[in-house]
Amino acid sequence: MRLRPRRLRRTPALRAAAAETRLDPAQLIQPHFVLPGAGARQEIPSMPGIERQSIDLLVSQIGRDRDLGVRSVLLFGVPDGPKDARASTAAAGPGGGPPLVAEAVAALRRAYDDDVVVMTDVCLCAYTPHGHCGVLDDRGEVLNDETLPLLAAMALAHARAGAHVVAPSDMMDGRVGALRDALDGAGLSAVSIMSYAAKFASSYYGPFREAAGSAPGKGDRKGYQMDPRNGREALRDALLDEAEGADVLMVKPALAYLDVIAGLRAATRLPVACYNVSGEYSMVKAAAAQGWVDESSVVRENLLAMRRAGADWLITYHAREALAQGWLS
Ligand code: PBG
Ligand code: ZN
Repeated sequence: MRLRPRRLRRTPALRAAAAETRLDPAQLIQPHFVLPGAGARQEIPSMPGIERQSIDLLVSQIGRDRDLGVRSVLLFGVPDGPKDARASTAAAGPGGGPPLVAEAVAALRRAYDDDVVVMTDVCLCAYTPHGHCGVLDDRGEVLNDETLPLLAAMALAHARAGAHVVAPSDMMDGRVGALRDALDGAGLSAVSIMSYAAKFASSYYGPFREAAGSAPGKGDRKGYQMDPRNGREALRDALLDEAEGADVLMVKPALAYLDVIAGLRAATRLPVACYNVSGEYSMVKAAAAQGWVDESSVVRENLLAMRRAGADWLITYHAREALAQGWLS
């Protein structure tokens, strides 16, 4: 037997030299849930270790995370005010000032300027009473083109406050182009768009919807998010976002869609991001809490799998703990 792959697996140093995939903290993005007010923090029972926080606490948390090496954050608003059919509070605060997430962006830029990459989720579902990601007609159908200007206004508010990256997660057709036009028209051509390009109608979002209060009251999101049966369609939809001017293309969820990550990696020259979503996090946490899996090695293996499939950026609730505990090295 002349061909022996085991030769390169003999020692830790040989294995390190032969490793094809590495995890770099610079590629991790930590999601955050932003509460109104001050001094407010709420645990999320299904996501141990993750909290909703008001802006003051969020700023200090993100400072501590930066010292651990978390350089990028993705912000979600958890508004407590009145919700309306046009998601008014997504784009403007009380009295027409900046909305909640824009306030958080501004506070983070004041504290850390360009030292932390500030990304914001752009979607209406946490701001509408019905919890859908767009405007509804009287039959309860999500209207595509009527939703676009509202998303653009929300993205503009975040960008004006200093967001480096806006990330539309609504899955309306044409929203990347609408955001790009609105940003460019406002002199914000330097702001990037990371599009949730292949976002599937997934049951892995359950804990997030509890955390963000964004579950649809009636129906589901299958009329706009992608069908889990479809890989080719995912590539088609993602490449449309590239053509409309997206700077980064995201696949979401991550672990059940590694084939889509790999396919997209081969189909585009843009950076590919993936979102290791709430349900994926909760499952690891739950099993680890039972002692059924070793958390550190399972998290590392999962993150490596996303990198190996071809993702450049990893959005993951594990980011802080992975760096704090040295799970990546
Ligand atoms: C809202 C949004 C969702 C997530 C990110 N943005 C939920 C959904 O589409 O229902 C999921 C994130 C997660 O599960 O961690 N459009
Ligand atoms: Zn949404």
